Amino acid sequence: MAKKHHSRKKNGFRKLWQLGREEVNTGQFDITPEGTLLVREGNYQYNIYDIVKKYGTSTEIFFPTIVENRVRDLIETFNAYIKIAGYRGKFYYHYPMKVNQNKEFVLPAVAEGANLDVASANELFLVKRMIEQERFNSKIRVICNGPKTERYISLIEELRGKGLTVIPIIEDMVEYERMKKFKGPVGIRVDLNVRVASHWDKKFNRFGFTEEEVIALGKIRNLSVLHYHISSQVEHMTGLVQLVKRSVEIYAKMREKNPGLDTIDIGGGAGVPYDKKKRFYTGKSLISQIVKTAKKQCDKLTVRHPNLIAEWGRYVAAPSQITIYKVISEKQAYNKGGNSWYVIDGSFMNDLLDTWALKQKWHVVPVNHMRAKKMQRVWLAGSSCDSDDKYTAGGGYILLPKLADTDELYVAFLDTGAYQDALASHHCLLSSPTKLIAQNGEIKVARKRETPEEVGKQFGW
Ligand SMILES: Cc1ncc(COP(=O)(O)O)c(C=O)c1O
Repeated sequence: MAKKHHSRKKNGFRKLWQLGREEVNTGQFDITPEGTLLVREGNYQYNIYDIVKKYGTSTEIFFPTIVENRVRDLIETFNAYIKIAGYRGKFYYHYPMKVNQNKEFVLPAVAEGANLDVASANELFLVKRMIEQERFNSKIRVICNGPKTERYISLIEELRGKGLTVIPIIEDMVEYERMKKFKGPVGIRVDLNVRVASHWDKKFNRFGFTEEEVIALGKIRNLSVLHYHISSQVEHMTGLVQLVKRSVEIYAKMREKNPGLDTIDIGGGAGVPYDKKKRFYTGKSLISQIVKTAKKQCDKLTVRHPNLIAEWGRYVAAPSQITIYKVISEKQAYNKGGNSWYVIDGSFMNDLLDTWALKQKWHVVPVNHMRAKKMQRVWLAGSSCDSDDKYTAGGGYILLPKLADTDELYVAFLDTGAYQDALASHHCLLSSPTKLIAQNGEIKVARKRETPEEVGKQFGW
């Protein structure tokens, strides 16, 4: 009886912190009987409190297994729905390197069968290095997005010369003219005339050609791929599905002059449930709708089912990392709700830049004292001396244990694996966090926390 009571209580705290819920990507998170955060990887487990006690904060912990599982699952789900729907095109997943270029992220994705999408000459240079070291199978396919400098184009040509399938996506008329010399297949980017709910400001979209422009180009030499990327973290599934429908219409029109056009690249945009309390679409339902819609629309227009490429980045990378800080002090916020400021030993503007840039919402949980009875409504302040270095959950509050009742308090931000690393900066010359890798029950240090000498050096000292 007593045991039953205990387990009900235990689940109460799991529920409070929204842990153990596959549908919001917290399936692998749990709480130890001591009230510390636990992450499971198969039958391995990591006590996050023990890890931060050993390695200090600020710290990022990356779980490669999560990337592997998500890539494998994504490819398998697309293939399964393709089979169920009787869809006759193939599916290719391309991991967009811009989302997280750390070697520890890219290699597990490739190991599970991801192809790549690069956005710059420097990202492509890393692919070249891996090919030269014979680390990548030369069958790997590389989509080249973003504006193309001459350096970028010569690298594309060099790798094509070495036998790599490298597909440049034409962005504008200058690239269109330049790519007439390119011997391999090319893609073209269209800015679809569809509005979706997301942070992206459609009015000022400067990428690719308009629908009218792309059709007016008529025959495009070696055209194989019609590409679009309309936004990231698209809020509703219908937005992403509408894009598929519209792209098939454009594809059908373009095929009249370009019979070699056989692929639609649907770009990124699949969102992540950062906010664990809101309902959010699942990858499975989204994939099912995408395949069904593509088939239905192709059949209606009696056009060949195109191969499908997805460049979902955030979807794969975000849930694979957590970022941990220590609360170093408390101050009153003097707002109506009686919030406190909890000051952390890291910085939103430096380490989690989208907090500032996109008003990104995060799921925040304590790393210890997870079974605390008394809670405090808080706002979190970074330790740079900038008033924008804060996280207020959109002006509401974050619930955390009362600091006065704890010996020390650590907090974890979930889903920090996408975009934050490459955007990271050094406001007030704060050090970047330690990066740890948790795999097969072991912790490896991928990058040590920066020393004052290392930070100073980056600024010429
Ligand atoms: C061309 C392109 N593809 C894919 C992505 C990845 O988007 P997401 O992380 O939303 O999947 C981006 C992100 O900006 C992009 O610009």
